[in-house]
Amino acid sequence: MEIYQQQIDNVQSLQELNDLRVKLLGRNGIITNELKLLSALPIEERKNAGQKLNKLKIAIEEYINNKEKTLQDAKRSINEIDYTIEIKSNIGMRHLLSKAIEKLDSIFANSGFANKLGPDIEDIFYNFEALNIDAAHPARDNHDTFYMQNSENMLLRTHVTCVQIRLLEEMQKNKTKETRTYSIGRVYRNDTHDATHACSFQQIEGIIIEDGVTMEHLKGFLEHIYSEFFEQKVNLYFRPSHFPFTEPSCEVDVFTKNVDGKLIICDEGKPLELGGCGIIHPSILERFDLHNKQAFAFGMGLERLVMIKYGITNLHDLYNNHIPTLKHISQC
Ligand code: DAH
Repeated sequence: MEIYQQQIDNVQSLQELNDLRVKLLGRNGIITNELKLLSALPIEERKNAGQKLNKLKIAIEEYINNKEKTLQDAKRSINEIDYTIEIKSNIGMRHLLSKAIEKLDSIFANSGFANKLGPDIEDIFYNFEALNIDAAHPARDNHDTFYMQNSENMLLRTHVTCVQIRLLEEMQKNKTKETRTYSIGRVYRNDTHDATHACSFQQIEGIIIEDGVTMEHLKGFLEHIYSEFFEQKVNLYFRPSHFPFTEPSCEVDVFTKNVDGKLIICDEGKPLELGGCGIIHPSILERFDLHNKQAFAFGMGLERLVMIKYGITNLHDLYNNHIPTLKHISQC
């Protein structure tokens, strides 16, 4: 039986198997011919040999049938695989805020900016004093600050503008040669809690310290950043404003309109504030021995940018980690 098993095992196709079946069990097959020869044997041997041969025949038949089934199954499974079928998996995706940060990282890197980070728990000097916001300044109240317990000097930073001061300080000490830096980071304010406000959110800040920079450069530059981020041409409107650390200072608006319940950036419509900017006040640069230097700076809210881009109306949808909501807003 073993030789036959081996022959059957070696067969690769149904056609080959059929040929082998004929060769072994067919009318002129090896086993059939042996059965025919039985009649020539003496009667006492014939019975025994006949039983053995029939057993072999049945075993070969069975083995061939099993092999046939295996070959058929293999053929069927190849034919039945639908390579075009859409596989539904539950693979996660990047959070919209992470995607926005990645995009901004690449926009700033392409414009020659270095990334600079500062601490969330900040010294009052960097958050306020060095930015011309002294103790009596009304801007301190606007910032609704969280102070650290048992320390009047330490606070949760209320804006990332303080990272600019850390840069100026490094320049004063000749510790850096960077003249274009940006930071993206979390800020904290004891603010109202509603659809567009939270006690903690993220800000993006940038600074360019280069001779001859003007408000015109600043506007052109911000239009470039926003156009890249929103993936459409963005025209900005600079609204005169006041920040203690910039002179002149502007609030940056885009025009938007509501089309079928979705906010669209356009050239006319309702102004929507994106952030603030200005030329850094000379007194700030002089504090760090950067006399006769010129610099511009700008700030914006990360969540607000993401909300406008994806048409999100409630800021907290970005933080509630409710998967169906996140999926829904990601597909907008
Ligand atoms: N720090 C300001 C805020 O949190 C935003 C800002 C305004 C940043 C003007 C700037 C700037 O760099 O030049 O409201």
